[in-house]
Amino acid sequence: MFTMKTRRLRAALSALILCAASCLAAGFAAAQMRDDRAIERRIDALLARMTVEEKVGQLNLVGRQDELPLALLRAGKVGGAMNYIDPREIAAVRKAARESRLKIPPIMGLDAVHGIATYFPLPLGQAASWNLPLIEEASNWVGREAAAMGIDWTFAPMVDVTRDPRWGRTLEGAGEDPFLGARIAEARVRGYQTAGLAASVKHFVGYGAPEGGRDYNSAWIPTEQLFDIYLPPFEAALKAGSMTVMAAFHALNGMPATGSRALLTDLLRKRYGFRGFVVSDFDSIGELTLHGIAKDRAEAARKALLAGVDMDMFGGAYMETLPGEVRAGRIPTRVLDEAVRRILRVKLKLGLFEKPDVDPKKTEAALRTPAARDAARRMARESIILLKNAGDILPVGAGVKSIAVIGALARHEEDRVWTDPAGIPRKETQTLLAAIEERAKGAVVRYAKGVDACGVRYEERESALEIARQSDLVIAMLGEDCEWMGEGASRTTLDLPGVQPDLLRDLVATGKPVALVLATGRPLVLTWANAHVAAILQTFHAGTEGRTAIAEILFGEVSPSAKTTMSFPRSVGQLPLSYDVLPTGRPQKIRQRYESIYLDEANEPLFPFGFGLSFTRFAYANLSLSQSRAGRADTVSVSVDVKNIGERAGQEIVELYVRQPVASRSRPIRQLKGFAKVSLAPGETRRVSIPLPAASLGFHDETGRYAVEPGRFDIYVGGSLAADLTAALEVSP
Ligand code: BGC
Repeated sequence: MFTMKTRRLRAALSALILCAASCLAAGFAAAQMRDDRAIERRIDALLARMTVEEKVGQLNLVGRQDELPLALLRAGKVGGAMNYIDPREIAAVRKAARESRLKIPPIMGLDAVHGIATYFPLPLGQAASWNLPLIEEASNWVGREAAAMGIDWTFAPMVDVTRDPRWGRTLEGAGEDPFLGARIAEARVRGYQTAGLAASVKHFVGYGAPEGGRDYNSAWIPTEQLFDIYLPPFEAALKAGSMTVMAAFHALNGMPATGSRALLTDLLRKRYGFRGFVVSDFDSIGELTLHGIAKDRAEAARKALLAGVDMDMFGGAYMETLPGEVRAGRIPTRVLDEAVRRILRVKLKLGLFEKPDVDPKKTEAALRTPAARDAARRMARESIILLKNAGDILPVGAGVKSIAVIGALARHEEDRVWTDPAGIPRKETQTLLAAIEERAKGAVVRYAKGVDACGVRYEERESALEIARQSDLVIAMLGEDCEWMGEGASRTTLDLPGVQPDLLRDLVATGKPVALVLATGRPLVLTWANAHVAAILQTFHAGTEGRTAIAEILFGEVSPSAKTTMSFPRSVGQLPLSYDVLPTGRPQKIRQRYESIYLDEANEPLFPFGFGLSFTRFAYANLSLSQSRAGRADTVSVSVDVKNIGERAGQEIVELYVRQPVASRSRPIRQLKGFAKVSLAPGETRRVSIPLPAASLGFHDETGRYAVEPGRFDIYVGGSLAADLTAALEVSP
């Protein structure tokens, strides 16, 4: 009786909750529609009052110059302004727009990529955490600090999948995998946009696959790969609501992205239903003449607008030529109006018309707060990958009585940020040397540069070697700084730049164990280092709190938990490189000629995707599926026991891969389809479940059509790409 009653009560309650939820949802949807309609009506009213010049003005994104563009703003000829970071300047820009006839506010944009006051690790480092809530939090902090300065819009996240670290912008993305890249893309969009900023997912599309790894170079990507590998992070970012999209600089399959109607209208707007606006990349409209698809700037502007580029970043080609093009009838007014509408829609959704100017006095208080720095520290800890740790030389043991800290980077007071267009001052990073001194209580710590921070000049080389000889352990912080990484920093060799390889050889030759701390923007070729140094800590550039986090790991206060999101090549000749390759008809078996091998190098990377060590170890057992047969609408739960079998607490990234051994086309030998990150105390076991939607198991054909083919799928779960617990799932027709 009692149970009957409880059941009925429960049923009634859940009906009520369901109704309440759906009624609420319906209420929100209706309110949203009213909002949307109100926004569109407001845009109609504005459009009806705008001159052609004022309309084109909305399409004009101006860059920061010594003189504020006040006259242009008052004339209604500026739609957005970028790289202003001083709240007083931003207020002046806004005020000038308020003095214009229609008082349309400019949208203030900035590359708030991984920090503007509190720096978080480079995006590639953040990705190595595989910690989605933390990545979202990091972007949220960057967004909040940017908003406190008066910024409305960030040119981030960059979600270009990249498989070739010769490309210098590798550091801005999440690495080589489309699934992980997609999850990170949506986390970052949410992080920025819940801080009140509009995100601009970039660079649409295929910019991370330039031929030869050379920035801005053409990419050739077959449709199947475009959809399976390069588009998923964009799709995810759009689903997460990215309000704007940035078109890429390069030519994809022979067509410059900035002039591609197929990409910017047919794919982005028609297929994906994107309703925000598209911004060009820096002067990429003007550059269409250099690409050879426009004879002059007017034709370039015409092609870009007709393709679907709404806003002209910096180049001025729209402002210069579009009024004439529209008047001459070469561009229909409705095309111009549509671009203006998309931009105004974003401005209205952001509430820019009502937004008060920021109070400069309050800005400072909102920057580098203890809470933001705490988040930066947590993010840094989880972004540092332990690639090698021979003989468990790390963490530094009590037996180590003297430490030589080598490398100007170890005493650098600023951590490197890639993109610094606005010249934002960076400060407050604890040096690695100070962080080590703080922790190495019983040991003598000596420091010498050995090389300068750029790695190109020896400095204090002899004293570096001398103190190395006198010490029990050498901690050398080397890497890529200065101009060695980021946009335009393509390389043909991936050694440590400059004289650093020689210094490293000399340090190793002292016979003392060397722990190599790498601050780089990409995976380097570490083949020699891996064979000769005792430990390698890949830290990328870990931000404001990065040096402290590195020391916490070196001294075992924190166990490293990051894993690679890009394959580390053994040699540049292996590039491009990724784990999800197709099988060949001549697989490597005994490594002989006429197998698919290199004569002079292994096929495998030095460190594969999904690799990273810890100070503890984990064991996997009891893999099971919630069902062994699935329909295409089902989500299977994949469960496994993960046990911390070491002596320290630690976090483990559980990786789930699939392979379809037989399909109508060759399928990759492994593909990441899920993951989880868990914290485990020593001896603790946790059953981890990862959802695997059958709908995610398909692939695209050469027309871009997606299908899940029925049949057997092998599932692998473990702590690396070599995951060897396996189960089979049968997907029914
Ligand atoms: C980059 C963009 C960036 C823009 C503005 C360009 O060179 O490709 O990613 O947002 O500059 O700084």
